Amino acid sequence: MSFPDVMEKLVSLSKRRGFVFQSSEIYGGLGSVWDYGPLGIELKRNLQDRWWHTMVRSRDDIEGLDSAILMHPRVWEASGHVSGFVDPLVDCKTCQGRFRADKLQDAQCLKKPSKKPGEHSECQLTEPRQFNLMFKTHMGPVEDTSAAIYLRPETAQGSYVNFLNVQQASRQKVPFGIAQIGKAFRNEITPGNFIFRTREFEQMEMQFFVEPGTDMEWFEKWKAARMEWHRGLGLDASRLRFHPHGPTELAHYARAAFDIEFDFGGSLGPQEIEGIHNRGDFDLGKHQEFSGKRLEYVDQANSRRYLPFVIETACGPNRTLLAILVNAYREEPVPGEQEGRVVMGFHPALAPVKAGVFPLTKKDGQPEMAHAIAADLRTRFPVFYDEAGAIGRRYRRQDEAGTPFGITIDTESTKNNDVTIRFRDDMGQIRVGASQAADVIARHLAADIAVADSRRAAAA
Ligand code: GAP
Repeated sequence: MSFPDVMEKLVSLSKRRGFVFQSSEIYGGLGSVWDYGPLGIELKRNLQDRWWHTMVRSRDDIEGLDSAILMHPRVWEASGHVSGFVDPLVDCKTCQGRFRADKLQDAQCLKKPSKKPGEHSECQLTEPRQFNLMFKTHMGPVEDTSAAIYLRPETAQGSYVNFLNVQQASRQKVPFGIAQIGKAFRNEITPGNFIFRTREFEQMEMQFFVEPGTDMEWFEKWKAARMEWHRGLGLDASRLRFHPHGPTELAHYARAAFDIEFDFGGSLGPQEIEGIHNRGDFDLGKHQEFSGKRLEYVDQANSRRYLPFVIETACGPNRTLLAILVNAYREEPVPGEQEGRVVMGFHPALAPVKAGVFPLTKKDGQPEMAHAIAADLRTRFPVFYDEAGAIGRRYRRQDEAGTPFGITIDTESTKNNDVTIRFRDDMGQIRVGASQAADVIARHLAADIAVADSRRAAAA
């Protein structure tokens, strides 16, 4: 089954509604760097909070950490990033374009976009050279090589170098994990596809330390758990799949690896949103060697010490957010109306705004009642109050924002002290007492199910 390409429509909707803006737009923009607007940041926070809740707060065997972006330069020598975190790069002397030598088939000649780089008669491609993806800068005022430092290309290394700090401070026993959410930077040769591949991005990574010999069992457990988590975001199961890494694809640190892929539709198709790796004792072993500090775990119960193996789950919130946008986007006709509607059918738990509050008119006490209800709802979740324009247009605006519930205050409301709750997905409505509105919506959110299902839950 092939899914439609909605990327261009999403870029435009994201700007119009305030999900994602191009960075430094008034200066012509900075290529492949993006800012998250009012709705985008709420959506990203909800996604990250959900990950943190699942991975850290709801378990007693994973601890949180927030390590610094800047680390000792030896970290990146030990990890293999200084020597091995490279992509083969070719330049075109004619158009000054830069391309990944191993991805020429996916690239376009800058002079003639219908051709691949190297296919046009004027193309002059150089021999491939290895290009390190780490951003380099200098610590302090002196720009000499001794002060060279890198922006981290992954959060994982911060967890490895803090392995014993976290283990001893939290008195965890192996198996246990360390989880982090934070920025990472890669000087990608060919970023693109909106927020899919960027040079500044975030990661939600968890390193699970296990006894050698139990690693493949944990690898399988984490593979299944992570796929389940992505399904729980409301991502269509038929768009999700595992992609096993063959021997030529495995990263230098990995003994086994699977990607979780989401089918973005169009020419992008199925792509990695999360990697699950069995990293063995590669990282702790290297840091032990380079730092000269023992990083072994002391298993007091069995009177022995060893370097744990690591199972890593590495998810990109920006890519997952793009998957959520793609998955949520739909255009559909509205019965009785000429113009259809665009709906962002987010899972209610992820939706940036949970409820829109709409007085039908600006008179007869309706705005006052609506403001009071909005204030009450706002103590529990984000709400958008809107009294401007025809009610149909107000609904459409919130459909595009993905707001799962709409509360309308009409002439009956001020007499009977009740309101209408409108459900985004099927536009069905129920009437409830004004003081019950917050509880009804909270119940739906607590049920953690899609809006279409939540109508059934309400009726039950
Ligand atoms: N510590 C392991 C690691 O970093 P990775 O597969 O290179 O593994 C993990 O990255 C996740 O980070 C990817 O699945 C993706 O979601 C996200 N990611 C990686 N590079 C990215 C980029 N340039 N832009 C956006 N997200 C990226």
